[in-house]
Amino acid sequence: MAAIGSLKIIDQNVLATEAMIEYVRADSDELISDKETTPDPFYQDHFRRTKEAICRAFEGLKRRALVVGVGAAQDIPLEELAMTFDKVRLVDIDLRYIRKAIELLPEELQGKFELEEADICGFLAELSQKAEELIAEKVAYREFVKRILDLLPTLRKEKYAYQENEYDFVCSALVGSQIGGVVFGYLDAISKRAYGVPFVPPERKDHEIARFMNNIQIDHLKELFQLTRPDGRVYFADHYSLKKVVFLRGDMETSTEELERIPLPGAQEVQAAAQQIFCVLSKEYWNWGLPTDEWIEKKLRAHKFIVYKISSFVFSRH
Ligand SMILES: C[S@@+](CC[C@H](N)C(=O)[O-])C[C@H]1O[C@@H](n2cnc3c(N)ncnc32)[C@H](O)[C@@H]1O
Repeated sequence: MAAIGSLKIIDQNVLATEAMIEYVRADSDELISDKETTPDPFYQDHFRRTKEAICRAFEGLKRRALVVGVGAAQDIPLEELAMTFDKVRLVDIDLRYIRKAIELLPEELQGKFELEEADICGFLAELSQKAEELIAEKVAYREFVKRILDLLPTLRKEKYAYQENEYDFVCSALVGSQIGGVVFGYLDAISKRAYGVPFVPPERKDHEIARFMNNIQIDHLKELFQLTRPDGRVYFADHYSLKKVVFLRGDMETSTEELERIPLPGAQEVQAAAQQIFCVLSKEYWNWGLPTDEWIEKKLRAHKFIVYKISSFVFSRH
């Protein structure tokens, strides 16, 4: 275990190939710059609501906490976690932004954190090595797609240090749906680079892919369960549907006109699995509005938004 000042950095496995890491970093950069550059209050409102919900979820708990997919922690109450728990383990595949966020905290709280660079789906190293071997062998595009689809259900999971502990509080905020997104985003990126076209499986495979994506999210929930002490709690939030709306400035909840409603993949299966795995202590919903570049009517300031419905849960193991 290495230490920078009082902050502990957990020893790392080989996470994935350089191309995979490059993809993940570019994806985070885009996400973070979107969040930082948008002046829109709905971003800030969503962050505030998430932080408040997380603080309520860990009320009365102490000792060890774990946050997976911590990203830049814009939606994670770092100070409150550090003041409540003896140790707070923060895990992400990309630690660049969380290091900066921790440097901004009071020095006496910084020593409470342990940072771990880890892949929470566990198979990105094997997937990226094998995918890039196929490209190096110069297999044709169709063969590449076929061999990757055959590979996906066979991937084995690496173990990481964070899995060796049990935690009083475990937090996963908007991470479950992101894990599968990283897998297919990376496949798209390397396919474009090697073949000039994105990674597009044949339509008859849609069902298999949907099952694979759902299983990633359900495995994530099962892992959260296993990481939690029997008397501990889990905070879990994700988005399962989105709406396209026209929004006239004012109150987002009341002054919008709905254009289209789209369920996101896994919406029903993953939420049903969550309720089977855990006991639901509480749930809340709110809207997270992301401004698009499209103006419906500039003079009226009618702006087209994508609105994610955030589902926010507190679970216990029984
Ligand atoms: C949408 S962000 C979560 C929001 C985050 N709390 C924030 O405020 O920035 C999803 C995070 O999950 C991480 N992630 C995605 N797949 C991962 C994986 N397989 N292992 C570890 N982290 C992963 C990404 O790096 C990203 O930081």
